[in-house]
Amino acid sequence: MFNIAIVGATGLVGSTFLKVIEEYDIKVNQLRLFASSKSKGKVIVFNEKEYVVEGITKGCFEGTDYALFSAGGATSLKYAKQAVNEGAIVIDNSSAWRMNPNVPLVVPEVNIEDAFNQSLIANPNCSTIQVVLPLSTLEKTYGIESVSYTTYQAVSGSGINGMKELEQTRLGEGNSFYQYNINETCIPQIDVFLEDGYTKEEQKMIDETKKILHNNNIKINATCVRVPIMNCHAVSVNVVLKENYDLKDIYHLFDKQDGLVVKDDITNLIYPVATEARGTDDVYIGRIRKDKINDNGILFYTVADNIRKGAASNAVQIMIALAKEVR
Ligand code: A2P
Repeated sequence: MFNIAIVGATGLVGSTFLKVIEEYDIKVNQLRLFASSKSKGKVIVFNEKEYVVEGITKGCFEGTDYALFSAGGATSLKYAKQAVNEGAIVIDNSSAWRMNPNVPLVVPEVNIEDAFNQSLIANPNCSTIQVVLPLSTLEKTYGIESVSYTTYQAVSGSGINGMKELEQTRLGEGNSFYQYNINETCIPQIDVFLEDGYTKEEQKMIDETKKILHNNNIKINATCVRVPIMNCHAVSVNVVLKENYDLKDIYHLFDKQDGLVVKDDITNLIYPVATEARGTDDVYIGRIRKDKINDNGILFYTVADNIRKGAASNAVQIMIALAKEVR
């Protein structure tokens, strides 16, 4: 039985934390829900019981075992340490702590050991989570020389505002949230541009992949694109391994990898699609084939529900794994 606090409980990921905890049938003793002052007093139903949303106050995390945060970077920077000092283990979905050398960045199927005995744990970026599942098994078996990503990211990655904007532009109303009309174009910009011409989202994928795989020497490129679909991110990945490989062995490795589901039967037009990934916690992988440029290269394509495995479910799975370790 856990005492759980959710910070950002009224948001897209925050409400999905609750949904996943219910679905996983986690026994909750005490549940406290936090959001901004504007949501104070709002009622949220969890397991058929009503809970009132609170504002964060001094001492509010006392008695909490796990605090799951998804309320933006500024809120995490302000309150995560408070929660830790008041005795909670914090799992934070924002990017605020991800690259802090003292904070582990964790995907349970890949590096859960990094989270053991830690009190502040970061959940990676939604696109990074899905790609490190296949990459970690390739890294362990062959070693990775380089990776090149192109993402196709759903509007739900921008939170409720992104979803509202797609709805609104589908109805023929103008754009107000994204720079361009997302119903009519893919937008090759997620987050702000950095000096080298990459976006912050692209840099996050690059840095976070290296941190999770514990290998700073992998060369990585990324292009991140917002596309006009409501939910589920896709990533086209080109990996160059350190050794030559047999494609049969790659299928076998992916088949064995926890959390990864191979959908690769081109004769029957089976490959990963958002409509199948939606509402699940698996990462789907397909279009697995040899690189025509580099002998040690492989191409593949992944799809996952970015709000679930890319955010809420990954955090809840970390919590479950830690609770098992403590027992
Ligand atoms: P609120 O709904 O009161 O604004 P999303 O990522 O879907 O936009 O959700 C962000 C979540 O973070 C919401 O639950 C939001 O609450 C919450 N939030 C924003 N600012 C704060 C804050 N200063 N303290 C606690 N929660 C916050």
